Amino acid sequence: MNILEIIAKKRDAKNLSKQEIEFFIKEYTQNNITDYQAAALIMAIYINGMNDEEIVNLTLAMANSGEVLDLSKFGKNVVDKHSTGGVGDKISLILLPIVASLGIPVAKMSGRGLGFTGGTADKLEAIPGYKTQVDINTFIQNVENIGISMITQTMNLAPADKKIYALRDTISCVDSIPLIASSIMSKKIASGANKIILDVTVGSGAFMKNKEDAIKLSKEMIKIGKLANRETICILTNMDEPLGYAVGNSLEVIESIEFLKGKMQEDVKQVVLELGAYMLKLAGKGEDIEKNKKRILENIENGKAYQTFIEMVKNQGGDISYIEDTSKFEKSKYIEPVYAQKSGYIHEINAEKIGELACSLGAGRIKKDDKIDASVGIIFNKKVSDRVKENDIVAYIHANKLEDIKIAKEKLINIIKIEEDYKECPNVILGKITNISNI
Ligand code: URA
Repeated sequence: MNILEIIAKKRDAKNLSKQEIEFFIKEYTQNNITDYQAAALIMAIYINGMNDEEIVNLTLAMANSGEVLDLSKFGKNVVDKHSTGGVGDKISLILLPIVASLGIPVAKMSGRGLGFTGGTADKLEAIPGYKTQVDINTFIQNVENIGISMITQTMNLAPADKKIYALRDTISCVDSIPLIASSIMSKKIASGANKIILDVTVGSGAFMKNKEDAIKLSKEMIKIGKLANRETICILTNMDEPLGYAVGNSLEVIESIEFLKGKMQEDVKQVVLELGAYMLKLAGKGEDIEKNKKRILENIENGKAYQTFIEMVKNQGGDISYIEDTSKFEKSKYIEPVYAQKSGYIHEINAEKIGELACSLGAGRIKKDDKIDASVGIIFNKKVSDRVKENDIVAYIHANKLEDIKIAKEKLINIIKIEEDYKECPNVILGKITNISNI
C-alpha cells in the first residue's frame, strides 16, 4: 500500500477502504508519512468528505493508535461525558461529582483549553495542590476508593488524533464534521467508556455555529457510537453567550463550588440537569428523566454532591480549605467594573469574543505551551435578556496587568450589546438526540 495512491483516491472523491485508513493512521503515527502528505489527505477528506463506514474506520483506527483504557471492572455501564467546547463551560466540574454522589463511577480524563475555549484540567489545577497528573493505577484506585477521579490525559490515548488535530489546526481543516466526529469519538472510545453523553454546544462560542450543523455532527457521532458498540446521546446546548456568570479558571471553580452548595445559576442548572438525567439513564440508574432530575437536585440540596467534590479534591491532593472558604483563592491585582452605556435589555454577549478576551487577559492559551493565569477573567453581573439601567455595573474584569484593563474595558463595552426593546431569555437546551431515528 502506498500513501500517494491513498491521497489520489480521496482527491478524486473515492471511498477509502478500512485497510487504507488503518495504513495511513499507523504509518502517520509512527512518522513514516510526512506532515505534507498527511495534510494533503486531510484536505482531500475536508473537501470530499467521508461516508459512514470510512468515518467509523477512521475513528477506530485513531482510537487504537495508542493505549486503550479498560474500565470494565466498574460495571457493564461505564458512562463518560464530553463537551464539544465552550466559554465559561464548567459543567464537568459540577456534574461529575453530582453523578458520582449518585453511585455512578467517574473516571474522567479532561483536556486543557486552547484558543478561546477553556479546559476542565486547567480549572482543576486552579485549586492549590490538586494533582491532575497521576499515573493510571492511582487514577483507577481513586475511582475504586471514592467513586471519582478527574485528571488530565496521562495515558497515550489516541496519539493519531493528537497529531492530526494539531495538523488540522495549521491547515484550516478543523471545522469538518467527519473529522470532528472521529476526533471526539476516538478519544472517548480510547478512554474506556461504553456509554457516552455528549454536550454538543451551538453558537458563537462553539465549533458548531448553527443548530443544523450541530445536528449533523451529533448524528455522525451517534452513528459512530452505534457501529462501535458505544451507546451515545447528544444534548445540544446554547453557547451563544458564556455559561453562567464566570469566565476564567479560579473564577469558574468558585462558581462551581457555589453551585454545588446550592446557589445554582439558571443556565448552568438546566445543562447539569439535562446531561445528568441522561447520564443516570445511560448508567442504568433510572429510566425516568424527570425523576432523575429530582434526584440530582436532592443530592445538591442534601449536600452529598458537595461532599463528593470535597472528597475528590482531598484525594487528588488539593487543599480543601479553599473549597470551604473560596475567599482564599488568590485574587487578581485589579478588579475593574464595567458600566452599561445606556438603559435597555442585554441582547448579546458573544461567547467567542468573551473567550478571546479572557484568553488575552491570560486565562487561556494562544499556543499549546503558554502559561495560564488562574486568577484572571470576567465576572458578569447580567445575562442576555436582563434589564439594565445606564451606569449599572454589567461585569467586572479581573486582570493582573494594568495595561490590559483599558483595552479589555473598551472591548467588553462593545461585546455586551444593549438595545431598548425586550429580548427573550434564550433556551439553553436546544435539543436532544437519543438515537438516529429521532433526528
Ligand atoms: N474537539 C476535539 O476533540 N476534536 C475536534 O476535532 C474538535 C473539537
